Amino acid sequence: MTGAGLFVVLEGPEGSGKSTLATALAERMRQAGMDPVVVREPGGTRAAELARNALLDPDHPVGPVSELFFYLAARADLVQTLILPGLAAGRVVLSDRFTLSTEAYQMAGRGLPPEVVLPANRAAAAGLVPNLTLILDLSPEAGQARQLAGGKRLDRLDRESGEFHRRVADYYLAVRGDGVRHLDGQLSPDRLLQVAWSEILRMAADRFGAVTS
Ligand SMILES: Nc1ncnc2c1ncn2[C@@H]1O[C@H](COP(=O)(O)OP(=O)(O)OP(=O)(O)O)[C@@H](O)[C@H]1O
Ligand SMILES: [Mg+2]
Repeated sequence: MTGAGLFVVLEGPEGSGKSTLATALAERMRQAGMDPVVVREPGGTRAAELARNALLDPDHPVGPVSELFFYLAARADLVQTLILPGLAAGRVVLSDRFTLSTEAYQMAGRGLPPEVVLPANRAAAAGLVPNLTLILDLSPEAGQARQLAGGKRLDRLDRESGEFHRRVADYYLAVRGDGVRHLDGQLSPDRLLQVAWSEILRMAADRFGAVTS
């Protein structure tokens, strides 16, 4: 499904620590001799960055269906341009968000119907399923407090209602499945790195039969 490489995705609500963990994990991977492809969604290619700007601009809102397809267009381009080639070359691909974000935000958050969102989401991902999805569990209130404390310029999605963010967080909390692990988003960044790294090593050992470091 993921070719020769290993596909690791970080998910979770706003401010749950995904980007902080992605940076630390990428560094840890390099120390271990890996050469990871590190991407964030939406973004990573020229077309996907254009979609990102269109999506997150608080001054020029787009409607829910337009939003869905902008995200999916960005994902489809990223998958074809960077993720599939990286996996085919046997590399680890680390992505800050992937298909689960669309389920949480556009389906649970916006209320778009699953029969529209799920097949379109699969098509955008070219059927690719992550080997490992690490979900950072954190309440939307705590996440938003962190974003504010960190001085983040809030984007259009960050500014959605409390109920919207509650639906997103509840969706994430309920996700179960092969290769899905929930991590406590309240852990310190160092502790999260440790826990996430051991999950990755375990998954790599399952796939390749060898533990690196
Ligand atoms: N484990 C942690 N404990 C406490 N604070 C953290 C932790 N991880 C990140 N932070 C802080 O919380 C804020 C949000 O972190 P980060 O940007 O990594 O989250 P995110 O999930 O990527 O957010 P977004 O959804 O906005 O992209 C930052 O100011 C960061 O320094
Ligand atoms: Mg982030």
